[in-house]
Amino acid sequence: MSENTALNTSPFEGGLYVITYGCQMNEYDSDKMASLLEKTHGLKLVETPEEADVVLMNTCSVREKAQEKVFSELGRWAKWKAQKPNRVIGVGGCVASQEGQVIRQRAPSVDVIFGPQTLHRLPAMIDDALRMRGDDSIKKKKAVIDITFPEIEKFDNLPEPEVNGVSAMVSIMEGCSKYCTFCVVPYTRGEEVSRPFEDVLREIQTLAEQGVREVNLLGQNVNAYRGEMADGEIADLAVLMHAIREIEGIDRIRFTTSHPNEMTQSIIDCYGEIPELVSHLHLPIQSGSDRVLAMMKRNHMVIEYKSIIRKIRALRPNLSLSGDFIIGFPGETCDDFKETLALVEELNYDRSFSFIYSARPGTPAAAFPDEEPMEKKKRRLYFLQEQLNKQTQEISESMVGTIQSVLVERLSRNSFNEVAGRTENNRVVNFEGSPDLIGQFVDVKILEAYTNSLKGEVVATPEAEKFKASQYYSL
Ligand code: SAM
Ligand code: F3S
Repeated sequence: MSENTALNTSPFEGGLYVITYGCQMNEYDSDKMASLLEKTHGLKLVETPEEADVVLMNTCSVREKAQEKVFSELGRWAKWKAQKPNRVIGVGGCVASQEGQVIRQRAPSVDVIFGPQTLHRLPAMIDDALRMRGDDSIKKKKAVIDITFPEIEKFDNLPEPEVNGVSAMVSIMEGCSKYCTFCVVPYTRGEEVSRPFEDVLREIQTLAEQGVREVNLLGQNVNAYRGEMADGEIADLAVLMHAIREIEGIDRIRFTTSHPNEMTQSIIDCYGEIPELVSHLHLPIQSGSDRVLAMMKRNHMVIEYKSIIRKIRALRPNLSLSGDFIIGFPGETCDDFKETLALVEELNYDRSFSFIYSARPGTPAAAFPDEEPMEKKKRRLYFLQEQLNKQTQEISESMVGTIQSVLVERLSRNSFNEVAGRTENNRVVNFEGSPDLIGQFVDVKILEAYTNSLKGEVVATPEAEKFKASQYYSL
């Protein structure tokens, strides 16, 4: 494969179109692909495939449905490519990692297939695909495929972060070594690998210098972070968060997604020690039944999970909790499901993710006997989601009258004189305010709770009074 160097002139006239399926890690990776290809090939992101010469699909294979979407989309793109043969189609992410050559067999128009750990090689792979196309001696053109796991090399070969707003995602570790019986991630993304401590801090420092105020630390098991420090010591997530809070400008820290078994005392203590750490935790449990947790090979019991939440809530009584739930795991009975429902109520989960179990080829659970009819599973999912929605709405309503710290992100879509930002528990709040507030933390009194957002008003500050006065004079 050729070196990953910038071309003098781009072979493309159109731009780059990227579709992203799945998790925040994939969103992060897609942003990185776009900035990389802008640098190497001058490709600018466009809104539709029609305006593009390169289309990329960053895929997810966690559930079968997500995987099937990939092939239906590729069918459409084959026609798109036939209109202009210079166009390039690339497939990345977990489906690419799992299926590799099979993608090319099912979709012969695909030129490049890359995995989550090789996206930094994308520019060179695209060049190779174009070269092969122009080489008449190669009669049967093949796709350029690289779905290896070259550890953390990816991060050394990606461009400096570019800021898009006041909140940024920062990937600090990749992969997963937990091997839950239902999950493909350890096979598609490889084992857990952490980025070096100083590299992460440098990236966040660069983001802060460009106006970022909030970082969301990302990883499949982000609390399993073990980054090597310059002195050879290993930093865990707690050490990392203590260092991040010292970076000037960063006043809010989030992390996602975590595993209960990696929720160490030192991370729990951070809730008492780091005010910048939000009072919101996404901690997947999957099921409220110990029997099901054992079959899933989660390696913990419900009581251990509850103990983590109890300890954190002792430090942060207002902690908002979200989770992931799998319904209809092979062997799940009605009683197991009732235990999940009871747990959801007891811990008062906020907005969460819940899906019906999807058998993934190659995982141990795919071979477990599964006799429960789909209709029953669907009914359970419906009950669970009703309960979660009810709780989410109640939590929103309980915020009415409270004062929330809101990081102002943008102009509101509702009204020309409103801005919008997020609370610690990830609610969008719209309130009257000047665009100058974007990038600032503002105390906002919540006035009304809607299904997807809140309405508020700035708590009186000299700046807020000035804004009101300026509105008055502009009338
Ligand atoms: N670190 C997280 C944890 O501790 O569970 C897991 C991240 S995993 C990529 C994201 C979520 O996808 C899981 O929490 C699980 O709910 C869901 N998931 C994974 N495999 C699944 C499957 N086969 N069927 C349904 N949902 C699945
Ligand atoms: Fe998947 Fe379990 Fe890891 S859900 S990502 S194998 S913790």
